[in-house]
Amino acid sequence: MEVLIFDDPAAVGRAAADRIANLVRTTPDAVLGLATGSSPQATYEALAEDHRAGLDFSRVRGFALDEYVGLSPDDTRRYAHVIHESVTIPLGMDAALVQVPNGDAEDLVAACEEYEAQIASAGGVDLQILGIGSNGHIGFNEPMSSFQSRTRIKTLAPSTRADNARFFDDASAVPTHCLTQGLGTILRARELVLVAQGAGKARAVATALEGPVAARTPASILQWHPRATVILDRAAASELEFTSYYEHAANTPVVTRGRLAGV
Ligand code: F6R
Repeated sequence: MEVLIFDDPAAVGRAAADRIANLVRTTPDAVLGLATGSSPQATYEALAEDHRAGLDFSRVRGFALDEYVGLSPDDTRRYAHVIHESVTIPLGMDAALVQVPNGDAEDLVAACEEYEAQIASAGGVDLQILGIGSNGHIGFNEPMSSFQSRTRIKTLAPSTRADNARFFDDASAVPTHCLTQGLGTILRARELVLVAQGAGKARAVATALEGPVAARTPASILQWHPRATVILDRAAASELEFTSYYEHAANTPVVTRGRLAGV
């Protein structure tokens, strides 16, 4: 796992965006996994700048991580709406190529299976963008989620409902259920990029990166992924123990084919 630490949240967004932009330049029909919430907003804003500067996202496909169950179709808190407003439009993506789990479906179980089938028929996710919950969740895979889980209905943890109450009039209005890609789904993405900013994430980040891989901290599965990058600001990194290792690795030229890159 590569861990990069930056002084401020905007630099986190730019660093994550640079990775995504590089992928889109080389693979114009790349498949992106999209997170919602506050964490990736700086990343999406940086990508929107890249788009205004000419980067073409019109063939890029997107699959959102999750969606609430039970919000009315015109509710602006629905992740389908949030993704449309903060990603699809600003990046100039084709709305027909951006999918969000269907939290309105008559048959939610079938909708989850259909979502997995759509991801598979797109060839899988090339790069999955992730945030982390203060309880260590990724997507809405709450603590004690199965590592093998696929897209499914989940009950939101009380701490997640409390964290997300800021988007609703009061905590009781936060939905109790969601559809979310599973940890097994996320692990199949070819690359993971997790962004976190602020001291409120520091404990979850330290437990996920430096604690044991354990169901009680779903984000700890990043330790199992062959290509995972974690991009943090100083506040989110403040409880890490191995900061000097990460900084040393980030500042040391990479060895490729027996030569030092750039030397
Ligand atoms: C949202 C999602 C969640 C959030 C997490 C952090 O699609 O997958 O895992 O990334 O709850 O939320 P914020 O970024 O709002 O702190």
